[in-house]
Amino acid sequence: MRKPMVAGNWKLNGNRASSAALVDALMSADIAGVDVLICPPLVYLAELIARASAGGLGFGSQDVDLHAEGAFTGEISAAMLRDVGATACIVGHSERRQYHAESSRLVADKTRVAAAAGLQPIVCVGETLEEREAGRTEWVLQQQIAPLLEDLGGLDGIVLAYEPVWAIGTGKTASAAQAQEVHAWLRSEFRAVNAKMADSLVILYGGSVKPSNAADIFAQRDIDGGLIGGASLVVADFLAIVAAAKPL
Ligand code: 13P
Repeated sequence: MRKPMVAGNWKLNGNRASSAALVDALMSADIAGVDVLICPPLVYLAELIARASAGGLGFGSQDVDLHAEGAFTGEISAAMLRDVGATACIVGHSERRQYHAESSRLVADKTRVAAAAGLQPIVCVGETLEEREAGRTEWVLQQQIAPLLEDLGGLDGIVLAYEPVWAIGTGKTASAAQAQEVHAWLRSEFRAVNAKMADSLVILYGGSVKPSNAADIFAQRDIDGGLIGGASLVVADFLAIVAAAKPL
């Protein structure tokens, strides 16, 4: 039985006051039965974790560096994230792949480093519209997960997030059936390498999830929750999405 997860990726949004207000509101909500994770802008992460110490919210970063320490200006290590109380990190978000030229090899390496440091990596994969229309979705995803599948040792607790690039921030959502088809395929790729891990692998859907479509998407058997962008910045919307992920 996989526990549902809903993660909010705040991206580059908000300020110190709005971030604190959002966390305060989430802390007073009933989130039982769902792993709820917040990934705020890094500069606010430590103080939000301290602020929410009494609650059941988890906190993660939106990226992590490959290195443990050294001359890597601007970067943050997995140990630093652990040090301030983060439990997870997003890796390989399509915006990192697109704007920071992150390769699937680098993403897999970051995943291993983060997992070894005790963080739960949320590894994002997804195809562009052109790739989908050319019938290349599975091929693209295969390339993205291949460096992970090469060696699943130590990656037991990772989370996968299927985020079709064409659905991110566009208001266009994959239909529940389209998403389920890809999630089932992703799980089968992991099953071919490690059946036990595949059964417990939490696979989130991301891309314009809203209160109006969340229940339909989360009802699919291979969809274990969501990675939420825009709607995670609106308390009522995010909580409605969390509620939709609760086990019946
Ligand atoms: P939206 O929910 O804004 O489409 O963003 C999805 C996403 O990229 C989460 O990581």
